[in-house]
Amino acid sequence: MNSLSQKKILLIICGGISAYKSLELIRLFKKQGSEVKTILTKSAKEFITPLSVASLSQEKVYDDLFNAENESEMDHISLSRWADLILVAPATANTISKLRAGSSDDLASTVILASDKDIFLTPAMNVRMWEHPSTKENLNKLKSYGYKVIGPEIGDMACGEFGEGKMTEPKDIIQVIELYFNSLINNQKLRALVTAGPTNEYIDPVRFITNKSSGKQGYALAKAFAKKGFQTTLISGPTNLKVDNNINLIKVETAHEMLKATQENLPVDVAIFSAAVADFKVKEKNERKIKKEESLHLELEKNVDILNYVSKHNSLRPKLVIGFAAETNNVEENAKKKLMEKNCDWIIANDVSNKSIGFDSNFNEVSIFYRDNKIKDEKLSIKEKSAISDEIVDRVIQQLN
Ligand code: PMT
Repeated sequence: MNSLSQKKILLIICGGISAYKSLELIRLFKKQGSEVKTILTKSAKEFITPLSVASLSQEKVYDDLFNAENESEMDHISLSRWADLILVAPATANTISKLRAGSSDDLASTVILASDKDIFLTPAMNVRMWEHPSTKENLNKLKSYGYKVIGPEIGDMACGEFGEGKMTEPKDIIQVIELYFNSLINNQKLRALVTAGPTNEYIDPVRFITNKSSGKQGYALAKAFAKKGFQTTLISGPTNLKVDNNINLIKVETAHEMLKATQENLPVDVAIFSAAVADFKVKEKNERKIKKEESLHLELEKNVDILNYVSKHNSLRPKLVIGFAAETNNVEENAKKKLMEKNCDWIIANDVSNKSIGFDSNFNEVSIFYRDNKIKDEKLSIKEKSAISDEIVDRVIQQLN
């Protein structure tokens, strides 16, 4: 069975002269056994007809955001959830600019904005439009959000000019998508474990020591692993976040519970410790609520170190152990110290003195320090935690392979 068989492809066709190539794309996907649903933008209908798209895809064509019949049958959110992958072909300069701005004024842009799937763009436009700095900037921004780009190619254009901007040929696009699904199949043999969120260390039955971690970074990592086909376990301290059921979510409260859940879910191929585990816990927890009239002396003791336990385990150590370091000063020096002391393969440092990233933010900016000094340390510039996670997971896959 080929990797495109039974795959659900949502093809978004925009209004460009290359739209005719999308008909061939549908034909090739169907030949490989994929299901293809299509969205036509308003201007795409100036280039190809819904009838020819429906005939080739053997499916209804979606085109209107405000269509009661469509919404009752398959609303725009279900449409984006239905897909295994979203392909925008051709992706015009206008659509690229709308996506960069996060617009949602038609069905295509709304479905994309609401999607949690990988999105491939195949740009096609006049060479000058392609070379325009605004197009380049828009596309770079979209890449930083995790969008994947196929092409464009150099050649003669429909407008009579020559240069870069031709849409990649359908057979070559199909090859890229096939490789993508192949890599997901290979990843299915791999297991990932992620810790996330804070821990609560109880003083008495109602009071505890905790920290500001929201779990967003760890949840984004687990989602990125699952999206890439990994069997993913997410061990999470208390958060308000949710995940799809393709992730094995284990909720815990204390560091001890987090350690136990981790032990129970080894072995794995890669473990990433993004949880902000409380370093200290109360030596003796009061079994009853402490009255405010009582004087309070807290004696703290060191908590278990989950990362240390896993990275120093002789038989169950994952192939790749990755720690996080939340630092406010001497980021590189402190992170490298943790890399060695905690016996990690990589340490991912975030400078949490910067309030716009790290704890509870939707964004992060990280430096990755590698133990193997053949690999150059690198910085991932500020972006959404989901995009940072995609980049981390891409590097994990590269290393595991
Ligand atoms: O949850 P968010 O709001 O999205 O914020 C993300 C984050 C800032 C919490 C995250 O990016 C991060 O930096 N996580 C690690 C926070 C931390 O506790 O760092 P640390 O330097 O204290 O610990 C170093 C490493 O040891 C971490 O991988 C930590 O998970 C691990 N550790 C620490 C103590 C302990 N008892 N057990 C551990 O496993």
